[in-house]
Amino acid sequence: MYTVEKVKALAKIRTPESFGTLLEIFRSDENIDVRREAVSSIGRHNDSTRIYDFLREEAFSRDNPMELIYQMFRTCLYRSKDDERFSRLRDEMITFWDNEIISKMNEYYNFRQQKEKQRPANKITSPLLLIGDNTETLKTLPSNSIQLIFTSPPYYNAREYSDYSSYAVYLSKMAGTFYACNRVLEDGRFIIVNVSPVITRRPGREFESIRYPIHYDLHRVLTQTGYYFVDEILWVKPEPSVPDRVSGYRQTRKPLSYKPNCITESLMVYRKECAFLLDRNMKAYDDYDRHDDEPIDTTNCWHIAPKYDKNHPAVFPEELCRKVLRYYSFEGDAVLDPFAGSGTFGRAARKMGRIPVLCEINEDYANIIESESGGYYDVRGRSSKKRSQQITIWE
Ligand SMILES: C[S@@+](CC[C@H](N)C(=O)[O-])C[C@H]1O[C@@H](n2cnc3c(N)ncnc32)[C@H](O)[C@@H]1O
Repeated sequence: MYTVEKVKALAKIRTPESFGTLLEIFRSDENIDVRREAVSSIGRHNDSTRIYDFLREEAFSRDNPMELIYQMFRTCLYRSKDDERFSRLRDEMITFWDNEIISKMNEYYNFRQQKEKQRPANKITSPLLLIGDNTETLKTLPSNSIQLIFTSPPYYNAREYSDYSSYAVYLSKMAGTFYACNRVLEDGRFIIVNVSPVITRRPGREFESIRYPIHYDLHRVLTQTGYYFVDEILWVKPEPSVPDRVSGYRQTRKPLSYKPNCITESLMVYRKECAFLLDRNMKAYDDYDRHDDEPIDTTNCWHIAPKYDKNHPAVFPEELCRKVLRYYSFEGDAVLDPFAGSGTFGRAARKMGRIPVLCEINEDYANIIESESGGYYDVRGRSSKKRSQQITIWE
């Protein structure tokens, strides 16, 4: 009976016999951890030709569990540095398996090989209010200059300020914004998008209304514009914000008519694609001053009461912004809301020592943000009285 430890010990004896034993273990042992360790130990042997032959034979076999294939690919990557045969094998494996984990391993390995430094962030030093369509106004920000994005996009046909000719048009508009956001967000940092399903008004009593699960569709939009999924946090409210959906069922008790009252919204937490681990982002703040004694939210359910505002139909409660800022940014970071509305995120960011950057297309809302902030923002955009003189267009 072999154990992982025994295989590791065997790997230190680099003789042709021990190679043979490792092959035997790989082929006959039933424990996957032991088999994986055998693959790893084979990869550390000195005999490149035997290793190559082993990989050639095993790395394309669909009988092998993917966990073992990943270990074989790892060997290929490390050996490809000094041996062309392994580089070719690596490329063949990438094509053959067409698997996202293998692609990611390859990307990560290349990144480390190049010893590329993380692109230094272009520092934003003053709060900005960008008035106009965010796909245009974001062009005035340097690449990699934002450390966190938190936003609540306009609802699809749910409120008076949004009007899109179709759901496809809405999603493509969102893709335009998230793509523009991707350029300005620092590599490896977070974008958090607050959404909930919306329902469109029925054109007549004989038609059914359509309910759109926006977050499912935005997942695809986000992954196609350069982010990957990290978490879903549920914002749980004490009460539903729309009329009693369950009333029909309550009266009739007829199955199929059941529609629960919704008291949650999603916070979709995504990270900008990059070839390094999060530790690298965190290391930039090694001298971080820990002075946060608040209790920690330990689950993905955050219980927060909604907020209503006389000026805007759909505002964030400030507490929601505070939590996002606390968990996903450091003091001094530049933080962006590309759909700023009444500017709640900017207010919370300012109070927490972050530098807010807000985009808003509606001039009335933008003017409210500008006047309520008492001249705090450097304003860029068509209607601004206080314009920045020289604006560089970055993209
Ligand atoms: C759901 S609201 C945001 C509310 C905000 N979270 C708050 O606390 O007030 C979305 C906002 O995005 C704005 N908006 C819509 N399309 C935009 C675009 N292309 N560029 C900039 N802002 C846009 C709308 O005018 C609206 O005020």
